[in-house]
Amino acid sequence: MSGGTTATGTAGRAGTALRAAGGLAVAGAAALAWASLVEVRWYALREVTVPVLPPGQAPLRVLHVSDLHLTPGQRRKVDWVRDLATLDPHLVVDTGDNWAHIDAMPALLRALEPLLAVPGAFVLGSNDYVAPGFKNPARYLLPDARHAPQRPPAALPWRELVSRLTSAGWVDLSNRRDVLEVDGRRLSLVGTDDAHLDRDQMPPAGGPDDARTSDGRSPAVDLHVGVTHAPYRRVLDAMHADGVDLTIAGHTHGGQLALPFWGALTTNCDLDLRRAKGLHGWPGARPDRADGAGSSWLHVSAGLGTSPYAPVRFACRPEATLLTLTSP
Ligand SMILES: [Fe+2]
Repeated sequence: MSGGTTATGTAGRAGTALRAAGGLAVAGAAALAWASLVEVRWYALREVTVPVLPPGQAPLRVLHVSDLHLTPGQRRKVDWVRDLATLDPHLVVDTGDNWAHIDAMPALLRALEPLLAVPGAFVLGSNDYVAPGFKNPARYLLPDARHAPQRPPAALPWRELVSRLTSAGWVDLSNRRDVLEVDGRRLSLVGTDDAHLDRDQMPPAGGPDDARTSDGRSPAVDLHVGVTHAPYRRVLDAMHADGVDLTIAGHTHGGQLALPFWGALTTNCDLDLRRAKGLHGWPGARPDRADGAGSSWLHVSAGLGTSPYAPVRFACRPEATLLTLTSP
């Protein structure tokens, strides 16, 4: 009798385990289908207010786009990006990783066309320089995916891209400073090339290209803004030391695959997970302030795309952000 009871119990446990495994497999397949078929194309406009302007000024609308990773067939993404112009931004900031295919230039220029009519600034990301190759999808979950082995990448026509963007009037901030007059406000801008490729070189402060020089000839600036692709801590520290009011960055994809009620599992750089996307302070907490006294503002975009070899997003919708800068 007891042997029969044991056999029945063992069979019952095996059945329970099989049902649990089957349930997990179904849930996994459903999550993968959602991530690859729905969420990866479920573009979101995020709107945040940043009280960073000097007192008494009208709001300034800054549209932040990043990490499009555009390929020639992505018409829905192209149309969605084009529609962002209806937000009537005063300034567009593009933090790089625009494309992911050697033939993506026409699609990218079509996507950006209405935005190129607006004053803009940009930096490039690693994927603007080279086309992505196949990688183990789990690689993206490594703390710093640069160190995983990979095949030599194919070069992309990034010089032509820079030429197209600058000839339309956008300013290239790759290891450069510049000044923009936007809606009657004078913005000094400083940017770096991509820290993920160790191409970042912070332009020295106080030089002839620094609009903030106090030589009595330069008009005061209303806002000092940093722009970079990958928000490595060394870049954010350099921006903060440079006196930026706000740094704008991309690269992280917000983790791309996140856990509900937990958040990102990686930032693909040395930035902490808590700041994988959204509005924060640097070096400490802000919005607003608790207690990031003395911190500058930091906005990190989760971006609009993915590598074509890892076309999934989960609990982290692709996004662009309208930053409304206001007086406190
Ligand atoms: Fe990216």
